[in-house]
Amino acid sequence: MTVVLKVEDLWKSYKKNEVLRGVTFSVNEGETKVIIGPSGTGKSTLLRCINLLVRPDKGRIFLDGEEITRPGINEARVRSRIGFVFQHFNLFLHLTALENVMLGLTKVKGMPKEKAEEAAKKALLSVGITEDLWHKYPAQLSGGQKQRVAIARAIAMNPRLILFDEPTSALDPELIGEVLKVMEKLAKEGMTMLVVTHEIGFAMKVADEVMFMDGGRIIERGPPQEVILRPKNERTRRFLSRIWELYDLGVRG
Ligand SMILES: Nc1ncnc2c1ncn2[C@@H]1O[C@H](COP(=O)(O)OP(=O)(O)O)[C@@H](O)[C@H]1O
Ligand SMILES: [Mg+2]
Repeated sequence: MTVVLKVEDLWKSYKKNEVLRGVTFSVNEGETKVIIGPSGTGKSTLLRCINLLVRPDKGRIFLDGEEITRPGINEARVRSRIGFVFQHFNLFLHLTALENVMLGLTKVKGMPKEKAEEAAKKALLSVGITEDLWHKYPAQLSGGQKQRVAIARAIAMNPRLILFDEPTSALDPELIGEVLKVMEKLAKEGMTMLVVTHEIGFAMKVADEVMFMDGGRIIERGPPQEVILRPKNERTRRFLSRIWELYDLGVRG
């Protein structure tokens, strides 16, 4: 097994607020790991550390065996190898769907325009964004379409790993399915993914491991059948029972 991402004893405080308190895990090539947990427990901070948007106080992160938290690392180069899909899409509003996907290819990867366009179209098609939508601006797209464009933008860069930070929580309920379907397809195709989500149906189906975070720590982890259906920790249980109430999936074991 090839380890793509290794996070080792990560700590981060904002003033007196200890947000991450010793987070350790790794993601192997082709795996999808899902992080669940109440809001304010450091999930976004963790992803932002991996993408080098936040500097941890302590601990190390490795991408393909290379320590990316070491001083002097080329941050732009690291980021070009890690896709990031945000809750609020983060698309450029003045660029079309196609231009949004092309941007990283031309600007970061230095691809010639024609080649970038070809790669961008291929990525858009792979998430079900068809030709009629390529020249639309984000404001002309639904939330589900915008998020699929954002996923295409990540895919097009041919990253080693894609991080998802609650990719469906800003969407209307009827649009969530189309985004989860795309993510499931990506996982099946062997993309390495780290996903923060409350979609436990997705986690049950797709995750190789579920990690429950609370208070800046991973306090329970394991296969989804264990963590989601038979949580051992009292806090995991309490959190999941609230999620079950919201989702009413009807598959409770
Ligand atoms: N840039 C920042 N400055 C100060 N506090 C922050 C910053 N980013 C996050 N926090 C705090 O860190 C805690 C964890 O936030 P976050 O990582 O967003 O949690 P989650 O994604 O699990 O909801 C929260 O208390 C939040 O207010
Ligand atoms: Mg968050």
